[in-house]
Amino acid sequence: MTVWCSNDYLGMSQHPKVRAAMHEAIDEVGAGSGGTRNISGTSHYHVELEEELADLHGKEAALLFTSAYIANESTLSTLTRLMPGLVIFSDAKNHASMIEGIRHGGGPKHIFRNNDLDHLEELLKKVPLDTPKLIAFESVYSMDGNISSIGSICELAEKYNALTYLDEVHAVGLYGPRGGGIAELEGAMDRVDIINGTLAKGFGVMGGYIAASKACCDAIRSYAPGFIFTTSLAPAIAAGALASIRHLKVSELERARHRERVRTLKGLMKQAGLPVMENPSHIVPVMVGDPVHCKAVTDTLLTHYGIYVQPINYPTVPRAPSACASPPRRSTPISRWQPSSPPSKSCGPPAPSARANM
Ligand SMILES: Cc1ncc(COP(=O)(O)O)c(C=O)c1O
Repeated sequence: MTVWCSNDYLGMSQHPKVRAAMHEAIDEVGAGSGGTRNISGTSHYHVELEEELADLHGKEAALLFTSAYIANESTLSTLTRLMPGLVIFSDAKNHASMIEGIRHGGGPKHIFRNNDLDHLEELLKKVPLDTPKLIAFESVYSMDGNISSIGSICELAEKYNALTYLDEVHAVGLYGPRGGGIAELEGAMDRVDIINGTLAKGFGVMGGYIAASKACCDAIRSYAPGFIFTTSLAPAIAAGALASIRHLKVSELERARHRERVRTLKGLMKQAGLPVMENPSHIVPVMVGDPVHCKAVTDTLLTHYGIYVQPINYPTVPRAPSACASPPRRSTPISRWQPSSPPSKSCGPPAPSARANM
């Protein structure tokens, strides 16, 4: 069976350097970290990894979390508590972890339509210039594969005195000359205040982080319960992620091969008349448009062709009447097809379409 819906986009979970680094770390320091970051759970692997991540994103510092979900949830909720009166402007298609963080923070918020700069500006204008603000958005929206206008959002942030918080979870490792994500690709890293990323997708291991100024990371380190009150990542995980990041900073091979496979798959699907949604990223969403048909398609692929693609369904994507006009709606992308590496999402009951992670 071949898994076509993995988030291990570049197959780094199988990379010999990553595996060797993890084996070595286990032999050196054992299987577990032994504690929270502040109480015996910080090894030299954690410290080196944070330095590597800060360098990857051109920031003064980085802070590790056990997942990007926790990084988003903890950072956004903590920022709201630390900055009284902070108003958050959140893209309508933001990931659940950002939504939860914003909700948990309990401060005022405005939701702008997905990557709709006019709508964002309209909302920003309504809040006094000296009120603290933060714009939270993603670079690659993983359900329909669209890419946000980072430069233009940063311009608005500069004009209206807002901080920017960018989730690059589906872009780190994959985009940019060193795998720093879309902001690196577009030369916009220095305009984004806080970058969030995962070690579990492009980098093939596990864990999450933010990269930002030293002051910001220190504040989150000191106040975020999701950083303080939990056992740190196992040193071997940090070692594996470190090896993966270091490799992808200098190797273009995996990114080039990945781009070629995305092009090939999208081309073949279009040739075959399949309803592949257009987008500029590596995500290959195929809208089937009916949950029962979608399940039948993915079942057939599995049983007759040995291809595993997972239908994606509510609540990962919203319920909605039409599939293609407003992407992952009632229909789910056929899955995200990743023809070379292991699986990712299981999204519950039959969904109308599926999505392939290339
Ligand atoms: C946009 C986005 N942000 C954050 C996360 C959470 O990442 P992690 O799996 O590291 O918790 C995901 C997970 O799929 C995601 O799609």
